[in-house]
Amino acid sequence: MSAVKTIEWKDGKVRMIDQTLLPRELTYLDCESVEMVAEAIRSLRIRGAPAIGVAAAYGMALCAVVSSSPTAGELRDELLLAKEILASTRPTAINLFWALDRMMRKASALQDAPLEQIKRELLEEAHRICDDDIAANRRMGELGAKLLPDPATVLTHCNAGALATAGYGTALGVVRAAVESGKRVHVYADETRPVLQGARLTVWELMQDGIPVTLLTDNMAAHLMRHQRIDCVIVGADRIASNGDVANKIGTYGVAVLARHHGIPFYVAAPVSTIDMNILSGDFTPIEQRAASEVTAPMGLPIAPEGAEAINPAFDVTPKELVTAIITEQAVVYPPYLQNLKGCLEQISDER
Ligand code: MRU
Repeated sequence: MSAVKTIEWKDGKVRMIDQTLLPRELTYLDCESVEMVAEAIRSLRIRGAPAIGVAAAYGMALCAVVSSSPTAGELRDELLLAKEILASTRPTAINLFWALDRMMRKASALQDAPLEQIKRELLEEAHRICDDDIAANRRMGELGAKLLPDPATVLTHCNAGALATAGYGTALGVVRAAVESGKRVHVYADETRPVLQGARLTVWELMQDGIPVTLLTDNMAAHLMRHQRIDCVIVGADRIASNGDVANKIGTYGVAVLARHHGIPFYVAAPVSTIDMNILSGDFTPIEQRAASEVTAPMGLPIAPEGAEAINPAFDVTPKELVTAIITEQAVVYPPYLQNLKGCLEQISDER
């Protein structure tokens, strides 16, 4: 299942699906420079918190591999600049900064090594970040699938699937694992205004896998929850604060409020690399503000009077009280989140 390769290292370049063209065309983009990777992240050719992290890691590896710096010191300066360029692309998904820090830590550990070894090991580290992401998604899937009844109807928002990760997906990974275990799952996908990741990407990738999916516009969710059995909501996350507040695609908060009103469990599936223990609550999450034109002219089609003002926050924060559980690769974490997320992360450092 899920044969799509969102991102990979191919022939010395970073190859990724250009997601702005889906579902009309399945086209791959070969990035040959850090600037190209940064542009791809900024313009949503690759998007979704874990996929952005993997792209950034490969961006750093690319910087090292193509570098003609004659010394390790000069290569380090190039890497620091690459980190800055990549870090400036999108502010909300913490996986971006997590991956950049991990790559820089690796570079620092290798500072006295020969240049060729630094290049080789940085590429290996990026491969590990990519492979670990898929493994984490598989584990999240196993743990999360147990939460679904059979048959199950699942509502999701945005795209937290194979396309948003190195493969398999977080929220959609749970769906995939449930289907693989023999459960009958039907997904309801919010279209996810304004960039339509739900309509364009979630519906596309589930249809590729033959998983039943029904598209709805965002404003239909309340009606659907009232009149149709929805067993649970599962979404991904861009940053989870230490207290359990969850930043995810704009509109997620509204879905969580609706789920609570209708007594529907609201699950968040995310790798531990999405948890930011350095912020006390979601109030400290930087929320990306994108161009008004994404709202006034979606997909380039003007739908508002010329010159109309519009707001376009790309993410919102769902308060922890509305989150039934957070499905990570370590465990399904329940409230109280401050204590239990900390426990979950401590468990990893004990394992290492
Ligand atoms: O703006 P996007 O498309 O990058 O936003 C993506 C989301 O909000 C996803 O739900 C989130 O990154 C989790 S992806 C596993």
